[in-house]
Amino acid sequence: MRDFLKRLPKAELHLHIEGTLEPELMFTLANRNGVKLPYESIGAVRAAYEFDDLSSFLELYYSGMSVLKRAEDFHDLAMDYFRRAHAEGVVHVEMHFDPQAHLARGVELESVMEGLGLARREAEREFGMSTALIMAFLRDRPAEEAMRVLESAAPYWELLDAVGLDSAEVGHPPSKFAEVFQRAKMLGIPRVAHAGEEGPPEYIREALDLLDVCRIDHGVRCLEDPELVTRLREEEIVLTVCPLSNVRLKVVERMEDHPLPELVEAGLRVTLNSDDPAYFGGGMLANFQACHDAFGWSRETFIQLAGTAIESAFISERRRLELHRRLAECD
Ligand code: ADE
Ligand code: ZN
Repeated sequence: MRDFLKRLPKAELHLHIEGTLEPELMFTLANRNGVKLPYESIGAVRAAYEFDDLSSFLELYYSGMSVLKRAEDFHDLAMDYFRRAHAEGVVHVEMHFDPQAHLARGVELESVMEGLGLARREAEREFGMSTALIMAFLRDRPAEEAMRVLESAAPYWELLDAVGLDSAEVGHPPSKFAEVFQRAKMLGIPRVAHAGEEGPPEYIREALDLLDVCRIDHGVRCLEDPELVTRLREEEIVLTVCPLSNVRLKVVERMEDHPLPELVEAGLRVTLNSDDPAYFGGGMLANFQACHDAFGWSRETFIQLAGTAIESAFISERRRLELHRRLAECD
């Protein structure tokens, strides 16, 4: 099964590029940039990755990214991930990035875009991998700040495949960002949002009604609201589910308790993703394998989920056909 899951052409729709920072690269970049880390060793970094919830993770996630200073660092970060993902049979990666987390440290959007842009072209050349870019707003920061970031990103609007919404969810409903997302819509930029990870089903409704998103990141708590499940099914909304992330952040206690089988059974359009692979115990292959181990899913189920990811990826129709063909040939 592992060989099959590795061969399966996987499209990843929910990944935070800053969450791919492995401790080894963290130390390399800290040395290169003269940043003092609060850890003695690589082992100590890994040992610190025990989380009680989303907030306790975000603290380490934002502190880890302090080593990212220049375009070169963002390039190395992304290439390090693309190389690993390629080795796991990932053919397409859509990456969220958090401009506000970098601006707050004096790192300009230009450096982020230059580094990620370079890495994207290299991944295409070296691995035949396609990539997409999702500029995320931090929901625990003011909406006015998000609006300023969106406006200041004008030179890069053409390069954005979507805008997203992430960071601490509870207490920061999608409604807070209605205007920002309205502006993105006016600019013709597609929209996605994290909702229903730790937040209530109502946040998923708001993301649909007020942010007009085409996908919901996580969305697992929709099952608490049967009417919402019906709506998600009828409107064919894709959920980008991140199983290992949900276990590590204690959204669920164990993989065996994860609602993924229920979501699939309910006829929802589900995809599997890694979220922050450096922090949550593995990338796409580990997430697929964990689902196999916990739910005993057949090849057909994995083919269905991989197909849903290809269907809803931000790629050209030509690329979509190519990936569907590769999926059909994979057995
Ligand atoms: N930023 C990085 N990972 C995240 C997650 N799982 N939820 C919300 N914001 C995030
Ligand atoms: Zn996420």
